[in-house]
Amino acid sequence: MFRLDWPKLEALWMKVSLGTMATFLVTIGVMAFGMDVHTADGRQTIDPTRVDETPPFDRPGLYRIGPDAYRAVVVARVFTFNPDHLVLPAGARIEFVMTSADVIHGVSIPGTNVNLMLIPGQVTTYTTTFKRPGEYLLLCNEYCGIGHHLMMGRWTVVAEGGESAWSASSTAPAGR
Ligand code: CUA
Repeated sequence: MFRLDWPKLEALWMKVSLGTMATFLVTIGVMAFGMDVHTADGRQTIDPTRVDETPPFDRPGLYRIGPDAYRAVVVARVFTFNPDHLVLPAGARIEFVMTSADVIHGVSIPGTNVNLMLIPGQVTTYTTTFKRPGEYLLLCNEYCGIGHHLMMGRWTVVAEGGESAWSASSTAPAGR
């Protein structure tokens, strides 16, 4: 009658387990050191308790950084975005530089693929272009408290050449 040789089976099972682990370790090693695969780098961090004194967040607003490029510096805190309104030119490169001064917030802009998370102590950057003029809503999409559903901003994208429109709002708003 056929009988199972348990010690032999157990030894085989251990070999399979060790072989599996070795395969994963080699895979990780090859990817990390051979293919240079790693987690996101260049992440900037700031002291979340000193957002208002830390550049560039000490002066939120819209800044021109090139012939057709702008930087939007925005601070989120319950339950507002500062600034909550910007006028931007269509077709220009817009670099978002954002952070949260308190809890986790989010930013999504319906009709675009902008969907960002704002984490206290971390700087979120993202570059995009608004091709079509119009009104864009910034909605907080991370539950952040009782006023979460009221937390929104409005960006007005104007046709290229409407330079006077954006320059009026390109300085940091007074009072935070
Ligand atoms: Cu901020 Cu939800």
